[in-house]
Amino acid sequence: MEQLLQQIAAYKQEIESLANNGADSLEAYRIKFLGTKGIVKNLFTEMKNVPADQKKEFGQVLNEFKQLAERKYESWKERLESTADRQTTAIDLSLPGDPLTLGTRHPINLFLNQVISIFNRLGFSVAEGPEIEDDWHNFTALNIAENHPARDMQDTFYIQQNPDWVLRTHTSNTQIRAMERSQLPIRIVCPGRVYRNEAISARSHCFFHQIEGLYIDENVSFADLKQTLYFFVQEMYGKDIKIRFRPSYFPFTEPSAEMDIQCLICHGEGCAVCKRTGWLEILGCGMVHPKVLDNCKIDPNKYTGFAFGMGIERPAMLKYGINDIRLFSENDVRFLRQFTSAT
Ligand code: DAH
Repeated sequence: MEQLLQQIAAYKQEIESLANNGADSLEAYRIKFLGTKGIVKNLFTEMKNVPADQKKEFGQVLNEFKQLAERKYESWKERLESTADRQTTAIDLSLPGDPLTLGTRHPINLFLNQVISIFNRLGFSVAEGPEIEDDWHNFTALNIAENHPARDMQDTFYIQQNPDWVLRTHTSNTQIRAMERSQLPIRIVCPGRVYRNEAISARSHCFFHQIEGLYIDENVSFADLKQTLYFFVQEMYGKDIKIRFRPSYFPFTEPSAEMDIQCLICHGEGCAVCKRTGWLEILGCGMVHPKVLDNCKIDPNKYTGFAFGMGIERPAMLKYGINDIRLFSENDVRFLRQFTSAT
């Protein structure tokens, strides 16, 4: 009896210390303890060897042990089943997938792409230039004099390490690079980001976008410039839209002009957006100054050309009904997700 009790105590310890591992060891455990030739069965057959006066006590210990062994089996099994359940759910191929969230294009790029595609149809290709530019390409070659106010620190961001470098103040730098590099004729549009040292508000920012156009060949005239821009405006804003040219001044063009389109909001009636004028100024343009051609080693007696430069933010804001320029650069996805390529 003493011996049997000791054995049972040892088995109990063994059961308690068993970790609930995989299904293989559960089956091994069942056979060892609860099987037809298992430990519990064997202990019950020992009953006949126990003296009659101790049978009751032994019976109780044995029953308790049997229950312990069975409880262990049940809880182990339950655990295995619930993990198996979870594993199956994780790879249930019949469940619908998570929808893919597609990105949307930035409204600036949407607008730029439309402008580019219109000029593409007229035979203009895209050229890009650096945003960190030297004085020559941003100012000097464009006939912008040493004392021109645009060079003022107030307007231009200079690079501290090298005072010859600036963050380009316009995309006109790319004209110069193209003229220095390209074979003639040149027919390009140059989109990109530009920088000016301006206070940030709902209407202005210290960086924004422009697109520059340049056409150089023999016999290019102001009439070509007008017709090109007229085509662009009609494609962009509709056939009925009116335009007008006003004389203006830029150091890099002669003659120079600014082009207005009829206000898109009030159609010429006069409203707050067009400051009651009925017109919106959309770009600067002109015939490339002979000095600029000369600076780029192009013979001004043989070649002429026109150029124009247009801001992107303002017309894009008008088109999409955006009332704060800062939204473009804040990366708020609630704003960005509203624009699809269809708009
Ligand atoms: N660079 C001018 C600006 O930033 C825009 C411009 C005007 C570009 C006339 C041109 C041009 O090419 O011919 O305000």
